[in-house]
Amino acid sequence: TCPDLFADTVVDWQKTDGRNALPWQQDPSPYRVMVSELMLQQTQVTTVIPYFQRWMQKLPDIHALAAADTDTVMALWQGLGYYARARNLHKAAKYIVHDLGEFPFELNDLLTIPGIGRYTAGAIRSFAYDAYGPIVDGNVRRLFCRLFGIEGVPTTSAVDKKLWALADLLTPKQNNRRFAQALLDLGATVCKPKQADCLSCPLQTQCVAFNTGRVTELPTAKPK
Ligand code: ADE
Repeated sequence: TCPDLFADTVVDWQKTDGRNALPWQQDPSPYRVMVSELMLQQTQVTTVIPYFQRWMQKLPDIHALAAADTDTVMALWQGLGYYARARNLHKAAKYIVHDLGEFPFELNDLLTIPGIGRYTAGAIRSFAYDAYGPIVDGNVRRLFCRLFGIEGVPTTSAVDKKLWALADLLTPKQNNRRFAQALLDLGATVCKPKQADCLSCPLQTQCVAFNTGRVTELPTAKPK
């Protein structure tokens, strides 16, 4: 697959068939993207939406979060679980406001923020800045393993390395916001863990798993 053709194919698909009315897609500031991505890390979109909206009413920008007390932050997160995410988010806001002065743009600077790893840094680059920022999450792992016929458990370091190398290569220099949303939307709504909807997939003809009848076998499951 030629990288430009791949990006154009998924970007065109996203315009008509992707999700384009999620609350964090409106005014996608780096702050709103960071908060939504942290919430979405282990929680479903439908659960996150009301939490995200309540959060933004109370803490509309990075300065409000940096100045908030712990009780306010934890109360807004109450029910989402994995409370380390909320503590990291609070720490991140204080770090950005007090140590950096403004929200960083460069990938390496984003990676210095507490709780921000490679995926979230790439998501902030793509969704907030519409700039180059490769992303690999569970959705992208599944999509790439099937599309390229990659064997092996996707979270092992050898496979993870391959997936990030592919993401680096396939991520375009423009349309990054829509490209990143396309990958997540394809993974969540078409290339699903069970019952992949290959007939609706814009990548069907290029997909190794589809063409070799291995959609249900890829990605390789963790041994029990
Ligand atoms: N999961 C993580 N980020 C997302 C996004 N921007 N839209 C939908 N689902 C997501």
